[in-house]
Amino acid sequence: MRPLRLGVNIDHVATLRNARFGDHPNVVAAAGVVCAHGADGITVHLREDRRHIRDDDVVALMEAGFRLNLEMAACEEMVAIAERLRPAAVCFVPERREEQTTEGGLDVVTSKETLRSFVGRVRAVGCEVSLFVEPDEAQIVAASETGAQVVELHTGSYALSADEGVHEGVQLARLAEAARVAEEAGLSCHAGHGLDFDNVAAVARIEPIEELNIGYFLVGQALFDSLGEVVAKMKGVMRAARGGDDKGLGGLGGAEGGGVVS
Ligand code: PXP
Repeated sequence: MRPLRLGVNIDHVATLRNARFGDHPNVVAAAGVVCAHGADGITVHLREDRRHIRDDDVVALMEAGFRLNLEMAACEEMVAIAERLRPAAVCFVPERREEQTTEGGLDVVTSKETLRSFVGRVRAVGCEVSLFVEPDEAQIVAASETGAQVVELHTGSYALSADEGVHEGVQLARLAEAARVAEEAGLSCHAGHGLDFDNVAAVARIEPIEELNIGYFLVGQALFDSLGEVVAKMKGVMRAARGGDDKGLGGLGGAEGGGVVS
């Protein structure tokens, strides 16, 4: 089978960082961890409202040498940023300020001419350009007519159906057919949104798909996979500060009966 790349979206590392307006957790450090553990690239969405990733994050990630896939709205402001910064890849996504996350794909069919112009400008500075679309034949064919080299298939409906255990097969078949259409149209095919440990394998088996972009689940799951380790480390630092003396720092309890610094 062909190789499948993983792009890790670190937007929500920035969400956490912004909660305290400081520099922890640092997004460049997070990108380093992600790439040291097998990710093939870093994806960030520079939203118009800058609710998580900011312009300086994009610059810092590029200066640190990460292969950056920059998601952005198809608008003049963002295209000008892409022209100036020249990330390795740009993925145009639909964006509405009031949404919590990217809901649905671009309507390439009705905005083909505008997209063609933006795609041309961003390709002209050397970026690979992708359009985020629903797994729908008309949208994929229209995407190929804009000059984009890639379509990223929105896997949100599939992920939802897999969670709910209804029509999962139908949604998977839509993705497989869309990937086939993309390949036939000469487009590279990526996919993403809402993927997790339980639902990713079926998408990973769709061979024309070359890259998956995954974010929210990974950042959330990282808490469970490492929170214990971090708490134990903090306890160790506290214990060392007391020279091994536990008096006065206990009393927090815990599921495993811990809580006392000793
Ligand atoms: N691909 C695109 C184009 C996206 O907009 C997003 C969400 O920012 C993702 C992939 C990743 O989705 P999730 O965070 O649900 O894994």
